[in-house]
Amino acid sequence: MSTRLFQTTPRIYYGERSLEQVGAEAAGLGKKALVVTGRSSSTKNGSLDRVCGLLKHAGLAATPFPRVESDPSLTTVTAGADLAREHGCDVLVALGGGSAMDAAKGIGCLLANPGELAALEGATGLRPGPPLIAIPTTAGTGSEVTKVSVLTDTARHYKLLLVGPTLMPSVAILDPELTASMPPAVAAATGMDALTHAVEAYLSKLANPFSDALALAAIEAIAANLPLVVAAPDNTPARAAMLHAQLQAGQAFSNASVGLVHAMSRPMGARFGVPHGVANALLLPVVAAYNRPACPARLARIAQALGRRTDGLDLGRASRLAAEALAELAAELPLPRSLAAVGVDVEDLEDMAREAAENGSSRVNPRRPEVGEILELYRQLA
Ligand SMILES: [Fe+2]
Repeated sequence: MSTRLFQTTPRIYYGERSLEQVGAEAAGLGKKALVVTGRSSSTKNGSLDRVCGLLKHAGLAATPFPRVESDPSLTTVTAGADLAREHGCDVLVALGGGSAMDAAKGIGCLLANPGELAALEGATGLRPGPPLIAIPTTAGTGSEVTKVSVLTDTARHYKLLLVGPTLMPSVAILDPELTASMPPAVAAATGMDALTHAVEAYLSKLANPFSDALALAAIEAIAANLPLVVAAPDNTPARAAMLHAQLQAGQAFSNASVGLVHAMSRPMGARFGVPHGVANALLLPVVAAYNRPACPARLARIAQALGRRTDGLDLGRASRLAAEALAELAAELPLPRSLAAVGVDVEDLEDMAREAAENGSSRVNPRRPEVGEILELYRQLA
């Protein structure tokens, strides 16, 4: 039996001044760029102007679309596609966190595939849109190296997933200078999302030796550097290490999938607007404890990657250390600690548990959860 071990990746640039590559890369891909970004920070900190300037210097026309909200809606994505059509854009540039990158993937999808976005969920054979250059400014969602776009159907309170190889960006540019303006709360939430990607990829039923190596390296680096960047955003080496680690985490889960934490965080985002990383940070320790009977050796290895000594401990104790270390790391960060603190209404928990059980990520979780078990996990956090 043959197994696909690793998927195609974008051309990746990493390091100081790597943003300068955007002009030459875009010039090789098209003539008119739509620059998809969030509603405020890239405009305020000058990075949108900088990217547009680099594109123009390389001979391209640049149309900014600074309208992406966090958890981008289908309406926003449709407006972006309309603007791209109006200006004849043949290359997309996403500048921002997961929201900007996912919105740009959705715009590309809509430009190449007729019909409503909602009808494209679950579709196979999605045609490729214009090539996408992804420039993350958080560390991070890893969206620059994934073939997935998560969009919000606000009418249905539903997180819609577009998946397919044609959604993979053509180029990813990771310049640590761009993450310098992240507020500590955003650094904490997006860093915990990256840690969740690495932990879930390592525990996934689809894990393989390539995803394992990336996941463990990411866990180790995030545990060492996330508290440093949250405490001191001007710590450049720690910020660079986080950007690198979230890329590894992104590649790990892109090849091995995520699990129950992501299945449970999606209804929290869709129904109550809880930011993705905040929801994951809350859920990660309790889901790790729940998973323990199914994968104690792997959790013991995670405990080591999180910096815990496990010599001389039996697997039961060593695996428990992983859940404890994840809880301690999350508690060190400026993040909410309960479902009540993030505005989740307990009345909705049963419906949320049903949705999470049906989510595809639950199927590759090391322990297959029943609806009642998921409900109990939510209640532990109420
Ligand atoms: Fe995530």
